[in-house]
Amino acid sequence: MVLNTWFLDHFYNLDTIIRIGWLALIFAPFNKISKYCIILPTLLFSIECILMLLFRDLPVLNWISLKDLLMTIIVQRKQFYLMDLWIAQWMVYNFYAGCGKTASCGSYHINKTWTSERYVFTILLFLTYLAAPLGLVLYIVGKHSFLKEYQKNVQNVIKNDHFHIDQLKHPFSIPHTVRFADRLPESLSSIYYFLLGIIGLTILFTIVLPSYIGLIIYCRIVYKYSSSSLSDLKTIPESVRNVTAEMRLTLIKTDRNQRRLIWHLKYLLLQFATIFEYASNYSEPFRLFQSLEEYFRKIYHTPYFVLGNGIAVNSYDIVKRYIQDLPPRKDAELLAWEISPSLETFCDFTTVFLSTDHPDTQLGRKIIFQWLHSFPHNLKHRNFEMELQLSRIVPRHMDKKPTKDLVYQAIGEVMFFLATNGELTKSERLAYISCVQSPFIFFPNWFNFLLNGHHFERKNLRNYYTLLRAFLRYENGLALQAAFMAAEKKKSREEVLKFITVVFCVAGSPAPAKLAVTVIDRLWADKEKNVPLFKKNPHNFIKECARLDKAVPTVNILATDEIVSEVEKSFESKIQIPENTPIHCSIVNANRDKTVFENPDEFLPDRLDLNKILVWNGVEEDIINPDQSKRPIRYCPGHDLSLDIVQYVAERFSPVTDDIDEDNTNNKNEQDLIVFEQKIRKLTPIEESHCWNVLDTYTKVVRLLMTIVINESNLFPSRAIDIAPPMHLPIKNFSIFRIDMAKFIPSWDEDKPNGSRPLRRFARWLVNSNIWDFYDCLAGFDTLEQALAWRSQIFPSLPLPNIVYTDMFSDEAMGRLAFFGCACHYTQRIDKSEHPSLQNAVYVNDMTVLSIFRVRKPFERYGAAAYFDGDFQLIAIYWCHANRLVRKDDQFWEHAKYVWRSSFFAYVTIHDHLIVTHMIECNALVTATRKYLTNGHPLRLFLQPFTYHTVSVNYQAAISLVNRRGLVHRVWAFDYDEFLKVCDYISMTYKFRLLPEYIPSSMSPENNSKTKEQWDKVYPIYSDLNHFWKGIHKYVENFFHITFNVQDDDKLPVDARMTEFINELCKQLGIPGIVSLKRFIDVLAHLIVSGTGMHEHVGQISDYVIDPRFIGAKLEEGKEIQNIQTYTQILILTVVTGVRMPGLLEDWSHLIERNQYYEKNLVNYENFKNELKNLSQDIDHRNKTRKYPFESFNPKFIECSASV
Ligand SMILES: [Fe+2]
Repeated sequence: MVLNTWFLDHFYNLDTIIRIGWLALIFAPFNKISKYCIILPTLLFSIECILMLLFRDLPVLNWISLKDLLMTIIVQRKQFYLMDLWIAQWMVYNFYAGCGKTASCGSYHINKTWTSERYVFTILLFLTYLAAPLGLVLYIVGKHSFLKEYQKNVQNVIKNDHFHIDQLKHPFSIPHTVRFADRLPESLSSIYYFLLGIIGLTILFTIVLPSYIGLIIYCRIVYKYSSSSLSDLKTIPESVRNVTAEMRLTLIKTDRNQRRLIWHLKYLLLQFATIFEYASNYSEPFRLFQSLEEYFRKIYHTPYFVLGNGIAVNSYDIVKRYIQDLPPRKDAELLAWEISPSLETFCDFTTVFLSTDHPDTQLGRKIIFQWLHSFPHNLKHRNFEMELQLSRIVPRHMDKKPTKDLVYQAIGEVMFFLATNGELTKSERLAYISCVQSPFIFFPNWFNFLLNGHHFERKNLRNYYTLLRAFLRYENGLALQAAFMAAEKKKSREEVLKFITVVFCVAGSPAPAKLAVTVIDRLWADKEKNVPLFKKNPHNFIKECARLDKAVPTVNILATDEIVSEVEKSFESKIQIPENTPIHCSIVNANRDKTVFENPDEFLPDRLDLNKILVWNGVEEDIINPDQSKRPIRYCPGHDLSLDIVQYVAERFSPVTDDIDEDNTNNKNEQDLIVFEQKIRKLTPIEESHCWNVLDTYTKVVRLLMTIVINESNLFPSRAIDIAPPMHLPIKNFSIFRIDMAKFIPSWDEDKPNGSRPLRRFARWLVNSNIWDFYDCLAGFDTLEQALAWRSQIFPSLPLPNIVYTDMFSDEAMGRLAFFGCACHYTQRIDKSEHPSLQNAVYVNDMTVLSIFRVRKPFERYGAAAYFDGDFQLIAIYWCHANRLVRKDDQFWEHAKYVWRSSFFAYVTIHDHLIVTHMIECNALVTATRKYLTNGHPLRLFLQPFTYHTVSVNYQAAISLVNRRGLVHRVWAFDYDEFLKVCDYISMTYKFRLLPEYIPSSMSPENNSKTKEQWDKVYPIYSDLNHFWKGIHKYVENFFHITFNVQDDDKLPVDARMTEFINELCKQLGIPGIVSLKRFIDVLAHLIVSGTGMHEHVGQISDYVIDPRFIGAKLEEGKEIQNIQTYTQILILTVVTGVRMPGLLEDWSHLIERNQYYEKNLVNYENFKNELKNLSQDIDHRNKTRKYPFESFNPKFIECSASV
């Protein structure tokens, strides 16, 4: 105790520790230790305070003494010193913000040289130490003046390197001025809107909300009429609803010339009340309109009522007449209030609903019709390419209802693809989702002012410009050219583009996207009843959903003389309303009108009166009239398109039912999987709980955290258009580190410069913590059905297999696996069998290598070799663990087959997939590329798609999968040290060989006395791999001939960077040297095929795990089915490794450098893509005549770089 006191007195001084933090921050702001030097004093101070609270002598524990104690702590000067230190820390982060802090290792990729500005900043830091307020003020002033330029320069390095297609600056894409502050410099504009936000929120909370509360109290006091006969509306009290309606009626009746300040104040308050009432009934607005109508019928005996700033009506007949029969008149208004200036001015030549007879509006309708009719794609006539792209955009989800955002994204991407034949980038997809979710741009100016100073409205407007830029990329496409033509030079290209964008954002986003969600909700709510109804007539199903839906609750027009007199007459001339008063036609109520629809509140897609619905701005039966001249004057031009898109997306997201024949998918694979899934029953809660309790904590945690990966990959799917050009950074070290298996991998990825999202990083940290137990639980499933139900229910996001195996047990199936499976490149011909008793063996698939490695107890060793006769039939298996040759009549026959399947799966996954493809070949390519080729080097740009995300993929695999106590360690039965020996063995025996040589020479058609056609039917990898290789090789070869203008393939281009690049490749791949261009092209083509086609061949593991009897990651004596824990772990591995990269057939032409070789390189690129498409179709065709399908090298399944 005495020693402790002495130590504290002499060595512990918090002030000194704080000063050390300051020194570290000023002179080593980027050092990791500096971070701890700042955290440490805070931590110590916290401990001091806690100890003070706990151990201080308190004679009487009462409020007074406690307050004194707290005050003692609060007024301590140390905490002010600490606050100063954190302020300085913020200044450092702020000053160097955007400089590419890496997520993986905590270092910074910034310019660390001591420039004059950095000296100034350091002096400011020192001033902050002396007097924090002064230093902070000086820094803020400096940031907006002399330090600004420096910060801009540092950040420009990153911005320029990040320069991407969605950042294209074009005069059209610069946001227009809505308010005067938009003209100010960005920093001043930000300050203005920040202050405006504070003012807006202050007014909202101090004036508007109290006034509204006052209004509610007033309504309750003055309301006399009360009737239980009125509809009950729990969200808004009857008194408030009706009194405010009366007040609105009074305001509307007021002559325009007599509207004074009080009128306007009342108007704003009542508008606020309208928005509030509408928001409270957002899910079912028809109830609000119905209750208001009932009140006005009681009091005024009229079908009209007051809503927002005008008169509203629910009656079907009147709504139909106003929006369809009478000449339309319209203004910039929506729902029950005027729209925001951002929306009003974004496209000012026509209103958003195309509804008046003004020449501009008529021209707008013409433009839209021309645009729609010139779409390059039509869902009714799908070709191969389109089917392919759509299936990537909207992957089939059959086991789990998709989230709303996923449906929104699918609708936006499909619509954009149909319109442009292009893709939306990540930021554009997010902008679209935001347009669907966020309605603020539809609200009036004053209301948006209250919401944080127009913050949300401005965000909406930015989204519009983001999507405008997306269309701008395709301005030379068919559809936009047709739209420009339709404008007849009366409108500029900019105006037309804005108009198309606003149609896409307003008409094309919320309505169809939300309708699709409604349709999908219904399909999943009662799939046995609703899916057959949907399949019977998808359009009728969607229309019936639309009838009961709220996507477009009201359509409004302006009152003409005729309408004014009708309304006044209906009110028995008790009121007079001005011309052009807004008339809100309630679509949601008209579609539930009992006088038109039988049982209107019931969902009946077969109803006879369905085509009377008013959804697309007209009666449906008139809109679908073949005679176009008889269609309603203002019907929605996107009527057919929205129905088709919603149908397509709903089909892709619909659940599996027993009804298979009519399932709308052209993908044989999906059909097979659906048939497979249909046989699976539901898991009972007891079974689920039993299986779950069997799992070790690690597996449970990883299973839960897996959902983070899946949700992220669903919401941010990889698209080729998101592949950014290379970054230029001073990369001398991109955090290469050595992993246990003696490989050196980089950890910082320019494709993901900020690393993973925080939640994912946290999940990874949690998973890799050493707190989880490690044991092999052998408990098995009670029945096979239970195992399948477990897989289906707990892993609904299992990647779609390329081949759906229904049989992996029969002897014949073994022949299929040996000649069509993922280890078929190891099958070879044997002329002389080493087993005297196997004289009829012609082929062998030898997977005995793994038998030399020890496994954990009580598991069996891996290793087996399968022998086949000349008819490719299995005749015997050599089983390593028992060291015996097993034949058909042997009691271990089934077990030996299971061991062989499991052995080739383990060997291919560890050897081919993990070590050779990822850790050696892909790693060599990406490391050499990024280390030695500058961002302007043509080869770097050329290789960019083939190395996309490779660094982060390998890094994640290294730290979360193949680490000690990681998933791979747990899934397979090797001890970790033994697993490392397996890896070492693979690395030592690795010998670089070109891909065509992967196929043993004995497996050529000639050596098997077969023609190429005959051989393709029984051993398809031979032709598919060669075709694929040739396609890639030709692409690489042409690139060199075009870009480097090399005629002689024996010589390498003279290029110092390339020489370094080649040296690095040789070093990593163990190649003695590359001295000719021909050899260099071969090596590059090989590495590209390795990360694309070969990766697909050896890495598509979902084919082998849909049934727990197919393969066993661990082998147990006498068992041919996986236990619960291992099966769950291998399923997790499958899901995690199933996260997709962009497709090889997607478009990355934006990466082709715009230099003098651009045209030729573009032709090369297009030829390459066409060859791949032809190969894909050819493989599809040949698969029909092959003994079994083989998809490993089918380009439609292949990604452009290796995924996990
Ligand atoms: Fe992979």
